[in-house]
Amino acid sequence: MRTQVGIVGAGPAGLMLGRLLEQAGIESVVLENRSRDYVEQRIRAGVLEQGTADMLVSAGVGDRMRREGIVHHGIELQYDGERHRIPLSDLAGGRAIVIYGQTEVVKDLIAARLASGPPLLFDVDAVSVAGIESQRPSIRFTHGGGAQTLDCDFVAGCDGFHGVCRPAIPAGALRTFERGYPFGWLGILAAVAPSNDELIYAHNERGFALLSLRSPELSRLYIQCRPDEDIAEWPDARIWEELHARLGIDGWSLAEGPVLEKGITGMRSFVTEPMQYGRLFLAGDAAHIVPPTGAKGLNLAIADVKLLAAGLVDYYERGDRRGLEAYSAACLRRVWRAEHFSWWMTSMLHRDDTAGDFGLVLQLSQLRYLTTSTAAATTLAENYVGLETV
Ligand code: APR
Ligand code: PHB
Repeated sequence: MRTQVGIVGAGPAGLMLGRLLEQAGIESVVLENRSRDYVEQRIRAGVLEQGTADMLVSAGVGDRMRREGIVHHGIELQYDGERHRIPLSDLAGGRAIVIYGQTEVVKDLIAARLASGPPLLFDVDAVSVAGIESQRPSIRFTHGGGAQTLDCDFVAGCDGFHGVCRPAIPAGALRTFERGYPFGWLGILAAVAPSNDELIYAHNERGFALLSLRSPELSRLYIQCRPDEDIAEWPDARIWEELHARLGIDGWSLAEGPVLEKGITGMRSFVTEPMQYGRLFLAGDAAHIVPPTGAKGLNLAIADVKLLAAGLVDYYERGDRRGLEAYSAACLRRVWRAEHFSWWMTSMLHRDDTAGDFGLVLQLSQLRYLTTSTAAATTLAENYVGLETV
């Protein structure tokens, strides 16, 4: 088999890259090691920056998002038992966010690709990349029992944090930056109308909590827990009790509903530099991870592949390599901004016993500043909706 761009991974990064290349008449093959069902059921975050939503539309995969996505113009910060609205759009030049699950973005991208034809193989095994320093890299894999080799001009490593592409780069060629957190998030999807119109990020002495949503009938809620927490110790009733305690304020109560899904995720910050080696380009979680506070992961993945697709188009249409050569540095400017923002939001909102009372009072001071100073709130708003020029 031969193609122009071999794409490893059918998450948002790989699928969107494939879509943008298809629009430009560039061939690609997408290889995914999980099943289609698994990829389409996996629950992930659900906040699209304005630029991400615009990209889905211009890529011709935004129809359902435009119908079902919910535009939000603000978020609420809660601390000391009070809520304070941050008017995102007023502060960030009219830009907004769209609530639309990453799972739905993935479904829409898969449906579009399967309808229009370019290869997308699920359930591939034993994926490995070779020859990335040569002009003719390849991807080896097995599918349906048979071993295959896909020869490519370029390989796009869109295979997430645990994928095989980043480790294919000689360790000496990469610099990695990493930070762990002593927190995890226990998330639930519940069949109940969201109890608030906008997202609530709640600072609480019991730990952080977040009220989010997926649709007018589906709530998405999170509580801070230990990263090694055992989900078996969290029956639904205990989760609701904790959500009430952390999100509740006078005159408001949280509505409960059947829990459809629950899970615990750890948190880390991670960046690889550069995001390219020879003819292998990394995009999305394969190159960087942010903690979920601020919902930047999907948005970064989409911003990466927008630049990668543009570089590949310049290369194929005009033999111009400058976009590809600048890819890593251009991505990393946005990545580091989001790394800082996500670390900052995480540090400000989570209960951190290692930081002591000093840390706690600093958090509250920062929250008060954000909710009383337009300058401070603007910093949050423009990062939250996504900076156009980073
Ligand atoms: N071969 C083929 N596919 C692989 C391999 C492999 N060896 N390893 C992993 N994959 C697949 C995964 O199954 C997954 O479908 O690569 C895909 C990577 O997708 P994501 O993890 O969704 O990463 P990305 O597309 O970069 O999107 C970033 O996803 O994890 C969230 O927080 C993250 O929201 C952000 C978004
Ligand atoms: C979500 O809805 O899943 C969500 C929202 C906001 C975040 C993180 C996750 O910061």
